[in-house]
This record gives sequence, C-alpha cells and structure tokens, in this order.
Amino acid sequence: MSWTPGSWRTFPIKQQPTYPDKAALEAVEEELSSYPPLIFAGEARRLKEKLAAAGRGEAFLLQGGDCAESFADFNAQNIKNLFKLMLQMNMVLMYSTGKPVVKVGRIAGQFAKPRSSDFEEKDGVKLPSYRGDIINSTEFSEEARIPKPENMLRAYNQSAATLNLLRAFSRGGLADLNKVHQWNLDFIKDNPLGQRYDELSDKIDHAMKFMAACGLTSDIMPQLHQTTLYTSHEALLLNYEEALTRQDTETGEWYDCSAHMLWIGDRTRNLNEAHIEYFRGIQNPIGCKVGPTMQPDELLALIDALNPENEEGRLNLIVRMGATKISELYPPLLKAVRDAGKNVVWTIDPMHGNVEKSSTGFKTRDFDNILSEVKQFFAIHKEMGTIAAGIHLEMTGNDVTECTGSTSCAITDEGLASRYHTQCDPRLNASQALELAFMISDTIGFKAD
Ligand code: PEP
Ligand code: CO
Repeated sequence: MSWTPGSWRTFPIKQQPTYPDKAALEAVEEELSSYPPLIFAGEARRLKEKLAAAGRGEAFLLQGGDCAESFADFNAQNIKNLFKLMLQMNMVLMYSTGKPVVKVGRIAGQFAKPRSSDFEEKDGVKLPSYRGDIINSTEFSEEARIPKPENMLRAYNQSAATLNLLRAFSRGGLADLNKVHQWNLDFIKDNPLGQRYDELSDKIDHAMKFMAACGLTSDIMPQLHQTTLYTSHEALLLNYEEALTRQDTETGEWYDCSAHMLWIGDRTRNLNEAHIEYFRGIQNPIGCKVGPTMQPDELLALIDALNPENEEGRLNLIVRMGATKISELYPPLLKAVRDAGKNVVWTIDPMHGNVEKSSTGFKTRDFDNILSEVKQFFAIHKEMGTIAAGIHLEMTGNDVTECTGSTSCAITDEGLASRYHTQCDPRLNASQALELAFMISDTIGFKAD
C-alpha cells in the first residue's frame, strides 16, 4: 500500500497518449520537476476547509470554465471575461442565499481531455483523436495528432501566466464590491438579464453605502475589495501531475501543485487503476465524476479509497447523469452514501450527461436539459434531507453560440454556426451562465424557502 508520486505507473491506465519519443518525454518530465509549484500547499488546505463548509451547507461551490483551455485562445481578455462572469454569478448566488460562494475555475491547467473514441474519422481518413493541447493539436492531420511531450512545458507556462493574472485581478481591485456594476459584460448589458443584474448591483451599492456610513469601507476591510479564485482541472495526464507533485515542507504531506483542486473523470475512475492510485496519495481537495454507470457499492468503495479518514472537504462528488436519468439513478447512490455516514461534497455537472447533436450537425447541449438536471438535483437533495453543495459548469465569459436555448439568447440549431468556438465540448455563454445562476438563486435562495 506504500505510495509515491510515481506509484501509479504500475497500474492499468486509460486515456493516455503513447509518446513516440520516450527520451524526449523523460527530459520534459525532469525539467517540469525542477520548475516552481503553481500553488502553495497552504492554499489547497484553505480550499479544503471551504469545501468542508460547502458540504455542511454553509457555503456554495461554484466551479466553472472551459471544457478545454487552448494555446490559441490564450489572452487577457478571455481570462478577464471568465473572471468577471464568476464574480457576477458569485454576487447573484451570494445575495440570494446569504452564503459565501467558493469560486473554483476550470482554468490554469485544464488542458487534457478524455475522449470517447481513440480515433476520429473524416471522409474516409482515420487519425488518432485530439486529446487536448497539452498532448496534441486539433487540426486534422497526421502530424498534428502526434503526442508531443514539450506541449507540457507550454501548458505549464500558460497556466503560470494565467494564474498570475487571476491573482492580480483577485487582489488588485477588480473584485472590489464597489465595482459590481462594472462586472456586467458588454454584450449582456442591454438584455433583460443584464438589467436584472443591474438591479441587483443597485441593491449591493446601497448596502455598501450603508456600511461605509457605519465606517466599514473597503480600505479597512480586505474582504470587500479582494477575493479568491481557486484553480482546478482534470488530472488526466499523470506524467504532468507527477512532475508537479511536491512534498510540503511544513507537514511532510504530498500535494499536486499544478492546481488547488484536481478531479478524476468519469472514464478513469476505476478502482484498481492508475488514477485512483495517484489521487489517494495527494492531500489536495479532490473531485470525482459520478456518471450513469456508477453503482452504490462501487461508489462506497471509491469513497473509502479516496477519503479513508472520512475527512470533510476532501472529496467532491460531481454528479453528471443527464436530465432524463438523474431521477432514477441518483437517489440510490445518494441514499447509500448518506446512510453510510460518509462526508462528501455533492455538486451537479449538468453538462456532460446532456450532450446531443443538433439538426445542423453540431455537438451541443440544450439549456432546458441543463436547467432540468440542476433543478432535479436540488429537489432530490431536499427530498433526502442532504446538502446540495454547488454546481460544476462548462462556461465562458465570451459571447459564443455553442449550447442551444435559454430565454436570454434563445440560440437555435441554425444559430450555433455563428460563434461556435469551443476546443472540445459546448460551453454556456456568459448570459446563459448568468441566467442559470439567477434560476438557482430563485430555486434555493431566501425567496424560495
Ligand atoms: C469534463 O469535465 O470535461 C469531462 C470530460 O467530464 P466527464 O469525465 O464527466 O465526462
Ligand atoms: Co467537457
């Protein structure tokens, strides 16, 4: 049972690239191992405490960002738009629930993608699948699909620069509660949703003025002018994660220092495989996707493997059943975990169980199905007397057309073609994500009780 950062290597593993040049791979691993960690273990411990609070119903977890980050779309505007969207959703949820919102981005490391097929076929040509920019490239050519170890170095550098900007936005004044109006994104401002957000901002402004009159201003209260956005990604490519695994000098414990939180995907969560082996040894807060094939006994065994001490805030179970399946498949799992007295943080990913193909040929998700799965998730928890701790979304702060529907932008199958930019799965655009946040606040906020 002894664990090392590399002990996963003797276990069966899924969804990995086969690097043609082993020496180049080893050289990259060695170089990465000498680079500074991207996060500090103390930050991961702090996030664990916050997730523990979410698991007890004292906070709400908002996790979201791209399906896959890309090298091509790496720029300040994209990062800023996602940051502002997170702040807007944070305000909506915080104002309506009266609880702090724990913000975790799928960002600064979300590069490796599991694929349903190892090959992609187009016009009779069959090539290895795209597996995320940390591994190969999207272009449909033989050369582009060869896994390149040096992409890991570029992913590390992009993650470091992204995290640097996020830390600057968080601490440098952009997150000041006196600026809530300014977070409204240009393309939302004029639609009814933007107006609803403006009305909320007015109320917050009034509250801030009242507090200032009491002598409580953002100059003396850091909580009012700064925030924390934690980072997370699917730790799929274990060569990369191992190279960034470090022993904390304060506690002697091991942390994956590539992000504050890591999760295991639905395709790589088999009990006796490499990802479980790797995750059991790191002390970060971790997530595990729970899809339609999960069985109650299997889930309990997984919980024991990943959280043997039953520590609060350690394990986030991210449910992704699909709108038509959740009512049947989720309650037995939730009941088994509840009855076994296991401490877990339950959140809903309403994206991955609701993928469909549009009549115009795009991989998409319909807003009504996303909404429906979220609503059912909250209703099931209410029924069971357990805590629905948050949501996990694929979303962007940009004005893309990737998911159909919603009241605010009503994207049709034909409309998808106009700004379909995703690297992988379809994301909610900023207005769809904000609309979802308002819907959740209507469902679980004060008014709903
Ligand atoms: C993802 O979150 O991008 C993902 C691939 O999810 P899942 O493992 O649930 O399919
Ligand atoms: Co995805």
